[in-house]
Amino acid sequence: MPLIKENISLQPYNTFGIDIKARYFTEVNSEQDLLEIINDPQLKQLPKLILGGGSNMLFTKDYNGLVIKNNLRGISIVAEDDAFATVKAASGETWHHFVLYCIEKGLGGVENLSLIPGTVGAAPIQNIGAYGVEIRNVFENLEAVHISTGEKILLTLNECQFGYRESIFKKDYKDKYFIVSVTFKLSKKHTLNTSYGAIQKTLEEMQITEPDIVAVSKAVCHIRSSKLPDPAKLGNAGSFFKNPEIPVQQYQQLKTIYPEMPGYITTSESVKVPAGWLIEQCGWRGKRVGNTGSHKDQSLVLVNYGGANGEEVKNLAYEIQRSVKEKFGIEINPEVNIF
Ligand code: EPU
Repeated sequence: MPLIKENISLQPYNTFGIDIKARYFTEVNSEQDLLEIINDPQLKQLPKLILGGGSNMLFTKDYNGLVIKNNLRGISIVAEDDAFATVKAASGETWHHFVLYCIEKGLGGVENLSLIPGTVGAAPIQNIGAYGVEIRNVFENLEAVHISTGEKILLTLNECQFGYRESIFKKDYKDKYFIVSVTFKLSKKHTLNTSYGAIQKTLEEMQITEPDIVAVSKAVCHIRSSKLPDPAKLGNAGSFFKNPEIPVQQYQQLKTIYPEMPGYITTSESVKVPAGWLIEQCGWRGKRVGNTGSHKDQSLVLVNYGGANGEEVKNLAYEIQRSVKEKFGIEINPEVNIF
């Protein structure tokens, strides 16, 4: 039975670096550990929170339940042919470690997702994405265990109901399952996705004319580390808000007032507008409020300059939301989970 600790600070376990306490805290190293926790009669009644890399969390108060830190490890190729390899990864593996494993084995499909913070198990929850690729593009299935019954399920691509930073784990299955492993289908014959402007430009700067998955990964790492703050140095959880999707008509109207407003057509009826641009236009970029603020290089990233509490960050997020709504009539919603 894994050790249950009491009144543990979660500061080392969330990339925002917020200092709140968990009433109970444990770490699981295997599925067996997890089942022992789930089946323990004394722990049964406690609310449970599963923690991976803690990179998409904002804690605003102490957690009066059991926090379960996921340390499940292991990556292996479970099937392959000339064109594809099926790779199964335990959910507690660091996402970037998994990406590097694939690149080293010559498997393509996740190189654009290099350096995204967090774990393999957290990746499907919000269908992580960057530079034109989302996890759903390479997803095969996942295994998850119900956190109160211990029942194990296997979910396929369709069953996960992936959308933009969305999945069933943010809807019907919210806080109900512990993802134990994720299986991906990766390719041996690579189709590179370098259409995202910054990648092309960076490859040119790197003087690479015939890129491969290694080069694309390097370019993505370069772009990310040049504009996204390193959580080890400055607390943050990546993009705080999702990019809003608005009706084409509303976009066209706004364009008459703000001709330089960027937007990407997602369907014939809606346009995705970069929340970072909207926030910057409201004057938040680089602005500090107490111990928190919007980052100078990417206003969509809220940061903890040190000693911020979760309420402070949440209040700043609220003020930003309010000003974007007031200026543009657009609602922006958090991507980060707020507890
Ligand atoms: N922009 C501004 N001001 C800012 C920030 C951005 O004007 O302060 C403009 C940029 O000039 C650019 C546009 O907004 O034209 C888009 O910016 P960027 O390429 O940085 O991408 P994003 O839409 O802000 C999304 C993801 C990121 C992902 C990047 C690259 C969301 C919420 N965020 O950001 O994901 O890395 O695209 O694909 O979809 C994350 O989810 O935590 C994350 C970092």
